Amino acid sequence: MGNTTGRLFRITTFGESHGPAVGVTIDGCPPRLSIDGAEIQRDLDRRKPGQSRITTQRKELDLVEILSGVDQGLSTGTPITLLVRNQDARGKDYSEMREKYRPSHADFSYQQKYGIRSVEGGGRASARETIARVAAGSVAEVLLKKHGIQVLAWVESVQELSIDMRDDEVTAEAIEANDVRCPDPEMAVQMFARIDAMRKAGDSIGGIIRCVARGVPVGLGSPVFDKLEAELAKAMMSIPASKGFEIGSGFAGTLMSGSAHNDAFYGDKDGRIRTRTNFSGGIQGGISNGEDLRMRVAFKPTATILMEQESVDKAGNATTIKGRGRHDPCVLPRAVPIVEAMAKLVLADHLLLHRGQMGASK
Ligand SMILES: Cc1cc2nc3c(=O)[nH]c(=O)nc-3n(C[C@H](O)[C@H](O)[C@H](O)COP(=O)(O)O)c2cc1C
Repeated sequence: MGNTTGRLFRITTFGESHGPAVGVTIDGCPPRLSIDGAEIQRDLDRRKPGQSRITTQRKELDLVEILSGVDQGLSTGTPITLLVRNQDARGKDYSEMREKYRPSHADFSYQQKYGIRSVEGGGRASARETIARVAAGSVAEVLLKKHGIQVLAWVESVQELSIDMRDDEVTAEAIEANDVRCPDPEMAVQMFARIDAMRKAGDSIGGIIRCVARGVPVGLGSPVFDKLEAELAKAMMSIPASKGFEIGSGFAGTLMSGSAHNDAFYGDKDGRIRTRTNFSGGIQGGISNGEDLRMRVAFKPTATILMEQESVDKAGNATTIKGRGRHDPCVLPRAVPIVEAMAKLVLADHLLLHRGQMGASK
């Protein structure tokens, strides 16, 4: 249960960290979209392990195979299945975890609920599952690009090291220019040093990813349960290790007065209705208003650390556990393409839903 998301652009992910493969089936992708395996691979390469010394050293090429739904480079309107085979599983690193629970990971709650779990690599709770999301997000992006929508995410902070850049100053090139994926090169150096110091100490840290969607038309989302920000919040909070979601001013808006916070309307020279500020984050009443979508996602410090910690075994006896194996000292640099993918998937679904409901009315 809970492995499927989206209503018209609908994805189901499958596979475990140390199983034969992970993958996704996309149902509802419109036909005749140009699906390029190299583009999907480019996105997967931004997520894959071993990109630098501040990411996990698991050796995976994460090569994508297109199993169905694409003919001569075009989507056929049938289910698209994308598969990545796992290559570098090292199960022995997890033998202790078969008996003991890692603090703040999924081990205890999963075992209690199902009475069985795929221990190696964390099974379904492994970030390898997010390969499926990134691959599907890459397909969703083809649809978004046709509508002039661009989604970008970047590392805004690592602990208290934070940048204060205007969204419209950030480019994809600046984000990809360093291993942290922070568009401010000087801050990226400091963030890298902080993450690296944590890695050496066997500890971990978290931070915040900012995400912006440009060119989103007016009208996506709906007023009650399927508010666009509610859909985005669910998508972002489904990413492993995410602990908070903000749209627009978010929690900082609580410190402002209404007169300062309200986004004043004006008509621009092209006859479009715009807002002077964007504290709403591009969504009002659950529906996109044509301004950029502005979001932030908080990520906790990685649960598995290479330090002795208090825990219990499966029988509840007190014990200690020290993480082994290869882990990310900070998930943020690799989570950037995952945040982008989740935003793309929600927007693709809502583009189709909007057209489905409104198609006949214009
Ligand atoms: C890109 C990425 C990489 C991750 N790498 C690790 C890791 O190396 N070790 C680990 O314990 N958790 C890692 N996580 C987080 C776990 O998957 C996550 O904490 C776990 O599934 C429990 O879920 P929760 O933290 O959302 O409660 C990673 C998450 C992401 C997004």
